[in-house]
Amino acid sequence: MTQIYSKILGTGRFLPERVLTNADLEQMVDTTDEWIQARTGIKRRHIAADDQTTADLAEAAARDAMAAAGAEPGDIDLIMVGTTTPDQVFPNVGCLVQERLGIHGCPAFGLEAACSGFIYGLSVADRFVANGTAKCALVIGAETLSRMTDWSDRTTCVLFGDGAGAVVLGPAEVPGVISCHLGADGRYQDLLYHPYGTSRKQRPEDTEGPFIQMRGNEIFKVAVKTLENIVDETLEANDLPREAIDWLVPHQANIRIIQATAKRLAMPMEKVVLTLEDHGNTSAASVPMALDTAVRDGRIQRGDLVLLEAFGGGLTWGSALIRY
Ligand code: COA
Repeated sequence: MTQIYSKILGTGRFLPERVLTNADLEQMVDTTDEWIQARTGIKRRHIAADDQTTADLAEAAARDAMAAAGAEPGDIDLIMVGTTTPDQVFPNVGCLVQERLGIHGCPAFGLEAACSGFIYGLSVADRFVANGTAKCALVIGAETLSRMTDWSDRTTCVLFGDGAGAVVLGPAEVPGVISCHLGADGRYQDLLYHPYGTSRKQRPEDTEGPFIQMRGNEIFKVAVKTLENIVDETLEANDLPREAIDWLVPHQANIRIIQATAKRLAMPMEKVVLTLEDHGNTSAASVPMALDTAVRDGRIQRGDLVLLEAFGGGLTWGSALIRY
């Protein structure tokens, strides 16, 4: 029997119209454009309108990716949405997107792995396509992090933004998605988290607000180490030298974390796709939006070897090596 692989047929993204600059943040908290740029690399981020939800962003990115792939709603037979900011507890955002696209019956998942959500989703969808269960999978990363950001906390509010990115995966005779590597370690759960949900509600005695909580310094160090390990693991699993990678598409959390990963790959920064200056950290949306940016501006070409990587709350982490 011929081995089936999965391949990215098209990419897409959607950013809400409203832009919040570092200068805007200077008016809101005790910070400066200079500090934010020097410590993070971020200049601005997009923020969803009050009536815009994660499903709105996800739908727009999905339509963009489907147009690029030449896929019709009737072609889609699997929907995966990586998000930590779903519209509601259930139905999952995948079901909401499915209904808006006028598709009925195919499986639709929400997948919660914080900033690694898209790579986790890509890995699952790759398996569905590779074993013949799906022929045309929509994989989306979409977030409205602004809804759980404490806009009076300068240590977190300068980092995050909203957006959505998507890819359409289809079958191929040679690997498009070559290998995915996922990991998690709950021992680090206290470094980055949102304290409340449905089962654990905020109680009157709780001192933390219903916002993202982060120990920035500590997660920074764990992120650098974890990403170094996953880069090594991905290269070793595929018996590849570092020079083989054409493009690095990293999770867009902090320029200094990205520089450390590029150094591990001995990769010049011109080969690293950076969007964090304009997007900030958009969690699960960050990697697919960066991928789409470099595909559309012509940097990433068909046949290029691309390494996607992410880490996030959990901790979770993952990489995907793809032949675009
Ligand atoms: N503006 C100005 N000063 C700020 C500030 C802001 N927005 N945020 C924090 N500071 C201050 C701190 O209060 C501290 O002041 P102090 O020395 O008087 O106590 C000082 O800047 C240094 O803080 P520190 O936390 O050590 O800075 P840092 O160099 O570690 O940068 C982060 C902070 C958050 C940018 C950095 O730790 C980081 O990016 N961590 C990773 C976060 C991340 O990627 N999270 C998502 C993972 S998916």
